[in-house]
Amino acid sequence: MSARIIDGKAFAAQVREKVAAHVARLKEVQGITPGLAVVLVGDDPASEVYVRNKGKQTLEVGMNSYEHKLPAETSEAELLALIERLNADPEVHGILVQLPLPGHLNSDLVINSIDPAKDVDGFHISNVGLLGTGQKAMVPCTPLGCLMMLRDQLGSLSGLNAVVVGRSNIVGKPMAQLLLGDSCTVTIAHSRTKDLAAVCRRADILVAAVGRAEMIPGDWIKPGATVIDVGINRIERGGKKKLVGDVHFESAAAVAGAITPVPGGVGPMTIACLLANTVTACCRANGLREPEGLTA
Ligand code: GUN
Repeated sequence: MSARIIDGKAFAAQVREKVAAHVARLKEVQGITPGLAVVLVGDDPASEVYVRNKGKQTLEVGMNSYEHKLPAETSEAELLALIERLNADPEVHGILVQLPLPGHLNSDLVINSIDPAKDVDGFHISNVGLLGTGQKAMVPCTPLGCLMMLRDQLGSLSGLNAVVVGRSNIVGKPMAQLLLGDSCTVTIAHSRTKDLAAVCRRADILVAAVGRAEMIPGDWIKPGATVIDVGINRIERGGKKKLVGDVHFESAAAVAGAITPVPGGVGPMTIACLLANTVTACCRANGLREPEGLTA
């Protein structure tokens, strides 16, 4: 194995420390405590775990956490009324509606009812448009975390060939926009791309976000490339349950210059970036200087 292993857990801890330091300063100097409201509809067990972790980490960095748990049969009107209240609440700087929502609720309508300035997920159509036109936006947490790790590994990304495998609204598309913003030459590839192997082999930066276990083997990777694996796939091997990424780790690590493991790579960065976005939203709402190194 030759690649440097990018320790996402340690990096996320550093991001949380920066957030905590900024929160402490906001409290001391301005008397403001950033607040994050998380809305969960229904009782999906995986979503409950995510929401619990988000609330715990929000409190750990010194911010206020407001959890709103609503029953699965909540009507769209009730949910929209809650969001309207949160939009108007000056103590709430960030709002996150945990997805997926129960089937009778229109996710696009719900997400687009959040005040874009409080949309810490960066999913509101206004933030998508702002990011796409290179303006100041709230940026989706997972791609923001990937960008932070890439800048930390490589310094300037200017002129590098970046290939993003996956075209989701949550990861692939915003990731491509962020890399373009840092002057990479960007290709978005996906499961239908012709000769995906050849496309991947051109990548100085390879971001894998397709959701297929170990789909990208080492011989698709350019020697020395930086590989960011966003995939989290549960598989069973030798009778044991295991988490793997979209990249075949062992073969890729033999070729790459640096690589994120699964677990312990991109995963821990997502909530850290949610906290970073909340403190950024709080600063913007109050006309204050934004924290350095925590934004795109
Ligand atoms: N469900 C799984 N990941 C996410 C996320 O990043 N944001 C929201 N709102 N819901 C999710």
